[in-house]
Amino acid sequence: MIIVGVGGGIAAYKACSLVRHFTEAGHDVRVIPTESALKFVGAATFEALSGNPVQTGVFESVPEVPHVRLGQEADLVVIAPATADLMARAAQGRADDLLTGTLLTARCPVVFAPAMHTEMWEHPATRANVATLRERGATVIEPASGRLTGKDTGAGRLPEPEEIGLLADLLLENPAALPRDLEGRRVVISAGGTKEALDPVRYLTNRSSGKQGYALARLAAQRGADVTLVAGNTVGLAAPSGVHVVRIASALDLRSAMTEHAADADLVIMAAAVADYRPAEVATTKLKKGSDGRSEQLESITMIENPDVLAGLVDARARGDLRPETVIVGFAAETGDDGGSVLDYGRAKLRRKGCDLLVLNAVGDGRAFEVDENSGWLLGADGNETALPLGSKTAMAGRILDAAVERVAAAGTGAAR
Ligand code: CTP
Repeated sequence: MIIVGVGGGIAAYKACSLVRHFTEAGHDVRVIPTESALKFVGAATFEALSGNPVQTGVFESVPEVPHVRLGQEADLVVIAPATADLMARAAQGRADDLLTGTLLTARCPVVFAPAMHTEMWEHPATRANVATLRERGATVIEPASGRLTGKDTGAGRLPEPEEIGLLADLLLENPAALPRDLEGRRVVISAGGTKEALDPVRYLTNRSSGKQGYALARLAAQRGADVTLVAGNTVGLAAPSGVHVVRIASALDLRSAMTEHAADADLVIMAAAVADYRPAEVATTKLKKGSDGRSEQLESITMIENPDVLAGLVDARARGDLRPETVIVGFAAETGDDGGSVLDYGRAKLRRKGCDLLVLNAVGDGRAFEVDENSGWLLGADGNETALPLGSKTAMAGRILDAAVERVAAAGTGAAR
């Protein structure tokens, strides 16, 4: 059974979609709002969506002792929105309503999805409460930045229900999926395909969706890192919560953005699908067909090679333009052929690029591109090779980060990456 706890904030309406997310996956859901949450969304809405009765106090249905029973029976408790007041009460161990009582009796994973004004989120009292809740094993999700109630914008916005649902599903599968092992670390990740312009209306790109890079950025931020996501062409993905997104178009833009942001990074991950070539000339006006209905310029396009951004970052580290302990991760999408297997090509690419870790995906037959699942291998420059079983791009991101975090920790001690 999943408990959705709802605090008294304007974002309480988003809890409705979250309840839907869980019921549609077949879970039994109990909604426990606070008294003030019911000023925003009525109990009838939560009852209809969850198919279960809703109560807020400890003096209702007393013979069933709900404040003890619900917590004991839960497989997961998700609080969305978690207001500053609700987190303060939870950190103090109060039990003055059904929700806080339930938090004291629950032994399952507990997730707080905070929503409040930036000032409240940044206040030392809230920081201390968040730290206390995390120390005790709860997951406090990094809030999103953006429009808050009223005219202001900043950090403290409730992540979208899909994102909370995705992180909750991950914790349901593995309660240890979001350790805070990247706290204080700077992580720079590239994602998506590059766009190489031909003229003001046309460009060449590839089938990369950006999903793997976005999943990595999302989890790295939730594991405590300060994350910059350098994003190219993606399939309309929403910015992950707590991540700073820099948009780029071409491979040359990507190189400048990566060079700038990687300068003080602990971990750099090149998940972007970089175009190997770009049109040698970019027309400043639209290329048109002539009176004969043909365009010589479009029939034959001269291409020139793009720089290898990943290999460039490895060189920059060797030159001292990047910190020597920066861990660099590359990606490879390969198909096997008569010349060698996917693994042969992956190993050769790892040597050629000089990065510390290579995520190798077998492609072809609809695998890896534009889909939600992936499989492959993790190849380390230290000779370690691990198979990545078929799983969601989020699960894959978790495994990649586990391997990368190990190397970041080792690099900090001066050991081999
Ligand atoms: N990459 C890069 N710059 C390029 C091409 C690729 O930084 N111009 C990076 C990708 O982000 C990825 C890794 O290099 O992390 C491997 O990309 P891939 O396209 O598989 O490699 P290529 O070097 O293009 O090799 P291939 O000849 O197999 O296309």
